[in-house]
Amino acid sequence: MRIFVLVAWCCTWGLATGGEGLAPPEKSLPFSLMDLDGKVHPLDCQGPGEIRVFVFLATECPIANGNIPTLNQLHRELGRTGTAKLFGVVSDPFTTRDEAARHYRDYQTRFPILFDSSRQLCERFQPSHVPEAFVVDATGRLAYRGAIDNAWEAVGKRRQVVTRHYLAEALERLRANQTPNPARTQPVGCPVEYPPLDRPERAVTYHRDIAPVLLFRCAECHREKGTAFDLSGLEQAKLQGKRIATTPCKGPTAATRQCTPFEKSLLQVWLDRGMPPGDTADSPGKAR
Ligand code: HEC
Repeated sequence: MRIFVLVAWCCTWGLATGGEGLAPPEKSLPFSLMDLDGKVHPLDCQGPGEIRVFVFLATECPIANGNIPTLNQLHRELGRTGTAKLFGVVSDPFTTRDEAARHYRDYQTRFPILFDSSRQLCERFQPSHVPEAFVVDATGRLAYRGAIDNAWEAVGKRRQVVTRHYLAEALERLRANQTPNPARTQPVGCPVEYPPLDRPERAVTYHRDIAPVLLFRCAECHREKGTAFDLSGLEQAKLQGKRIATTPCKGPTAATRQCTPFEKSLLQVWLDRGMPPGDTADSPGKAR
């Protein structure tokens, strides 16, 4: 139920800012991602003055994992001062949603981790390494990118004492209406080397790529006993695959629920490849 309420709220905002003819903010993020606890975060919905921090992580990267206590602490402080919202992001195409959920539960992560199943956030920010932090200010502009702090001079070269807390300092300056300085630092960690999205070896599957889109954008009406034909499971989506990939929705408020061009391309590629189901371990349906 909570999911549907959030979706409805996001779409109202989408209409106000991203509607036809209106230029989107420089770094608009017109999509939603589900965190590993099953909560949907509409990424274009910014309250006034809201700053967001996205830190790209990967389960297999020791430096990223080693930063979790620092990020937990920053998250606690940001919650106390109300300065910004911190999200972890997992975009690794070789990690399933279930594996990520188990991993970050074991690491006692306190901040929400977005599961970037189709790499929309990764494509937008293009992190070079994990961990790398991106700070988006209230106007949607990128205000800082880079390392969390200077704990690592290079891989294998750890400082005795951390002297710069780049991410926390950037947020402090933004809070005081100043530009972060430095606004960019070199992240140290594991290089991000994922297969390009436009290559054939990139898999587009129902559970990983399609189910989240149908869930966020369509399920409010297109579900069992909803106001339109059912799209709420693999079999239903396959039955309607051609229709949803090629025909625009006829629904009443559907303009606000339109798929982004990226989501449309996912539907088309999925259809072209024979609508593969993929791994149920990626399914957002059984999110916790
Ligand atoms: C606010 C409700 C609502 C939402 C959200 C919605 N739809 Fe619809 N949609 C409808 C209704 C109502 C119809 C017409 C009744 C029917 O065909 O069952 C419809 C019809 C359609 C049709 C048939 C169009 C035709 O010409 O045959 C397609 C395809 C479709 N929707 C796809 C989608 C997809 C994909 C999404 C999500 C990206 C979506 N819709 C989101 C309500 C909605």
